[in-house]
Amino acid sequence: MSALGPVAIVGGTGRLGMALARRLSRAEVQVIIGSRDPAKAKSAAASLGAAARGLSNADAAAAGRVIVLSVPYAAHRVTVESLAAGAAGKVVIDTAVPLVTGEVQHVDLPPAGSLALETAALLPDAKVAAAFHTVSSAMLNDLERPPHGDVLICADDTNAKEAAEGLVRAVGMRPVDAGGLSHSHALEHLAGLLLVVNRRYRRRDLGITIAGLED
Ligand SMILES: NC(=O)c1ccc[n+]([C@@H]2O[C@H](COP(=O)([O-])OP(=O)(O)OC[C@H]3O[C@@H](n4cnc5c(N)ncnc54)[C@H](OP(=O)(O)O)[C@@H]3O)[C@@H](O)[C@H]2O)c1
Repeated sequence: MSALGPVAIVGGTGRLGMALARRLSRAEVQVIIGSRDPAKAKSAAASLGAAARGLSNADAAAAGRVIVLSVPYAAHRVTVESLAAGAAGKVVIDTAVPLVTGEVQHVDLPPAGSLALETAALLPDAKVAAAFHTVSSAMLNDLERPPHGDVLICADDTNAKEAAEGLVRAVGMRPVDAGGLSHSHALEHLAGLLLVVNRRYRRRDLGITIAGLED
């Protein structure tokens, strides 16, 4: 098993959470699936193999070395608040995009400036990174193909940035340092723009690459 884990995925039964869990499990990173319903988490974890576990979101966060947060906007604040005890001192990687569905789906940033900044404000004892916003779950779920694209990462804390970089490499993608958490609003907006591009070209798997950056 990889030293990156265990990685607790809060909201891990969802589209992005399970797609990340499949890729991480494949890379021998131990995964803990979190859910509001521990039975649902256990059943999702069972599909990943013997090393994966399923727990409530709060218990998963408490048991993880690193926490990935992958819940919809409407569930973000209440979910983050429920993690306060388990997340203290740990790296929390926020993937959430503040998408609202009106006549058209659009990004509506919260008062904190971004969801990742909201997480940092609600969990002052955690080390927060923003990442995976432009990574398509459909693309990750296609296990027959290597994943394409870069993953832009924003974090103020060095450990948080390094942990996020490690997870990005483990899923088979290239991490790109996109500065401090104050830039995370741009990642959340970029995800909204990428949804528009996917729709225009009738795709679900497009991503972002930083042109000209050598490995
Ligand atoms: N899907 C993608 O390709 C993708 C890509 C980049 C970023 N993102 C972002 O990642 C986050 C998760 O996206 P997703 O598509 O994986 O979402 P999702 O499948 O709709 O939901 C993820 C999980 O969140 C939990 N959840 C749903 N509604 C909730 C509520 N009202 N209260 C508490 N928990 C709730 C559910 O888990 P339980 O029922 O098991 O608790 C669900 O399985 C979103 O912020 C999204 O914008 C998604």
